[in-house]
Amino acid sequence: MARLTINGKSMEVTVDPSTPLLWAIREQVGLTGTKYGCGVAQCGSCTIHLDGVAVRSCVVPVAAAEGKQVTTIEGLAANGVLTKVQKAWLDYEVPQCGYCQAGMMMAVAALLKDKPKPTDADIDAGITNICRCGTFQQAREAIHAAAKA
Ligand code: FES
Ligand code: FES
Repeated sequence: MARLTINGKSMEVTVDPSTPLLWAIREQVGLTGTKYGCGVAQCGSCTIHLDGVAVRSCVVPVAAAEGKQVTTIEGLAANGVLTKVQKAWLDYEVPQCGYCQAGMMMAVAALLKDKPKPTDADIDAGITNICRCGTFQQAREAIHAAAKA
């Protein structure tokens, strides 16, 4: 049993505290926007925010999230208002199959919080998410557009 705060809501999940947070989010809470890709912190499809910091939830135990604010893609648009990242993603038609995109946008949202005007080098260093569809160039353009918005 663990008590988590996800997208502003406090809740109990009945999992072993060592369970990866990804599985508590998806299977206990039912928020399936956060995706499983590799399970070993390589692809970034499971990226969420823990107290505003982007983390790969497949390697974060539930115990490490207790007492912290967990934000998933479902909670990124507060009160249903899309963020500038989400708007840019739509404007630049970034998603292809879409599988990696929730994690990518969560990583980008955290990057822009730290670096509001990122350079290409900042983007290369900060966004290491893997996209099998190769949306990297559209994502880069959308990140620069979001930074200007
Ligand atoms: S599923 Fe977590 S980084 Fe790939
Ligand atoms: S949009 Fe298909 S894996 Fe990224």
